[in-house]
Amino acid sequence: MTVGIDRINYYVPKTYLDLETLAAARNVDVAKYKRGIGQEKMSIPDLHEDIVTMAAEASAPIIDNPDQIDMVFFATESGVDFSKAAGIYLHKLLNLKPTVKVIELKQACYALTSALHLAIDYVKNHPGQKALVVSSDVAWYGFNTPGEVTQGAGAIAMMISENPRLATVTPGVTYTSDVPDFYRPNTMDVPVVDGKFSIDCYLEALKETFQAGDYPYVCFHMPFAKMADKANASLTSSKMDEDQLAVIKSVSKEIGNIYNGSLYLALIGVLIHHPQGLEGKTIGMFSYGSGSIGEFYTLTLTPRYASVNPVDRYLKGLSERKSLSIEAYEKAMNHYVKREHSLDYQAPLSQGFALVAIEKGHRIYKAK
Ligand code: HMG
Repeated sequence: MTVGIDRINYYVPKTYLDLETLAAARNVDVAKYKRGIGQEKMSIPDLHEDIVTMAAEASAPIIDNPDQIDMVFFATESGVDFSKAAGIYLHKLLNLKPTVKVIELKQACYALTSALHLAIDYVKNHPGQKALVVSSDVAWYGFNTPGEVTQGAGAIAMMISENPRLATVTPGVTYTSDVPDFYRPNTMDVPVVDGKFSIDCYLEALKETFQAGDYPYVCFHMPFAKMADKANASLTSSKMDEDQLAVIKSVSKEIGNIYNGSLYLALIGVLIHHPQGLEGKTIGMFSYGSGSIGEFYTLTLTPRYASVNPVDRYLKGLSERKSLSIEAYEKAMNHYVKREHSLDYQAPLSQGFALVAIEKGHRIYKAK
């Protein structure tokens, strides 16, 4: 039985900060952000959004019938509760069956890749069932920090089924190593980061796991787009040229780091640039989560992947956004941090899937 990714979707908030605006406000040469870091924009969650609403936005378009889903894997490192899985709120918003099992997974940016493999194993062991794999994160380092330019917010959703229309997946080699490159203790809003060391750890994991092959693309986890150039330059074989690199960076540089989903934005970039033509081709995927775990695995696009490749929708997600002033960005992130500490809260606005209130710490959502 063949099991794999039947459909994939991404969601980013409708508001972003242009890095020209950030550079001017922080008195930094904009070339550092645009060329040195490789980013153009970073997405900022709107006032009604959190990881649950973003996960719902990413998931809804790939669910034809909620009753088809039997298992939900929710990967995040921006969890809203130490006990209750964010996926339980998502389960209600998506109107899933009560028999559905829901769990939350964490290992920095790697958890989504792990969730994908677990979901495939689950469907193989439960013939006829489907699993929803979702990640949603807000990458927040704080104002005036070196990491500020590598922030972002967004979600990825994948439907895992038998006879997948998009891609089959071949698990690869993993490399686990206890390193203090990036971590966020329970009492902290922002991570402790050793930026340069984290890049070394990432490249070490890539070196330990990479498998050479005839890939049209190798998608890299991209906390910032320039990381893909560094990763590619470190390879001793299967290196991509500038044109290939531009394709895998095309979506990420418009959005920033969405933690777990960042690797999959590279894949969305490939799908946008190739509405068809990659049938049967195998793509390299390098997943990295600080702390750390790296995994290099591959996925192979099916002969009918073009039938589940909504390029117009993917492009609309990027074009239908509005630019924020530096004041609006700071207001949005201050609101986000304050709200995440609130036990009682009323939302100032509600549109789409929305977090409308928090009552004694319990979150109240509104479906679209
Ligand atoms: P920094 O110290 O602000 O920047 O930190 P820099 O001084 O290293 O400059 C960055 C680049 O800009 C350099 O290029 C400069 O030369 C260049 P490079 O040497 O790297 O090729 N530059 C310029 N270029 C053109 N014109 C100029 C100019 N000035 C300088 N005028 C850093 C940068 C990425 C370290 C920081 O933003 C950071 O700490 N980010 C967060 C950590 C991170 O993203 N780490 C990546 C690997 S770890 C990972 O991927 C996991 C993660 O996603 C978390 C998870 O798993 O959950 C982060």
